Amino acid sequence: MRIDIISVAPDLLESPFNHSIVKRAKDKGLAEIIIHDLRAYGLGNYKQIDDTQFGGGAGMVMMIEPIANCIKKLQSERAYEEIIYMTPDAKTLNQATANTLSLKENILILTGHYKGVDQRIRDKYITKEISIGDYVLTGGELAAAVLVDAIVRLIPGVIGDEQSALTDSFQDNLLSPPVYTRPSQFEGMKVPDVLLSGNFPKIEDWRSDQAYKRTEEIRPDLLDETS
Ligand code: ADE
Repeated sequence: MRIDIISVAPDLLESPFNHSIVKRAKDKGLAEIIIHDLRAYGLGNYKQIDDTQFGGGAGMVMMIEPIANCIKKLQSERAYEEIIYMTPDAKTLNQATANTLSLKENILILTGHYKGVDQRIRDKYITKEISIGDYVLTGGELAAAVLVDAIVRLIPGVIGDEQSALTDSFQDNLLSPPVYTRPSQFEGMKVPDVLLSGNFPKIEDWRSDQAYKRTEEIRPDLLDETS
């Protein structure tokens, strides 16, 4: 899978993509992540990329031409199945969206700054808008890093034990059950007997039950969702 990201702050994306699972996916050739500095498409000597809003109001708006030129150049090189804009005014990312996106060959992610991008970019080029939560970040880079991490770990072969991604929280709209490792006793706290029983059907039942209870207590809204 190839992921292109357009950003005005490419340095912010260096570290998240050069560690851990995303780095492993890149090293194995399962994911290619390419960051494009929007400033290179800026206008005039000052490489301008933002301007004041029509109609007045605080905050700068990212201009249409630099973004359109960057997107058009990338589109001339390959077809993108999705062009995603990271913004707080969108539907919130969930596991179902990450699953769907992990099956794509080429996606392009646009990260915003300031007051956001000129609406005409969203109208003309963007096929999907994603928020990572109901709060406002300084820019879309950290949100893009979250999205890419959630997607890349689902690509087959990225996580050694395939089961591990499939049994994550949210894969079945439930939170994960509690997990334990050695020692079986610590300062008087014991691991539940069932996990030491070797009775795997019983262990599965216990885990399902715990996942349901935890979801009911912490995120009852998930139990009402159909996807
Ligand atoms: N850019 C700024 N805040 C954001 C958020 N919550 N999600 C996605 N992109 C953003």
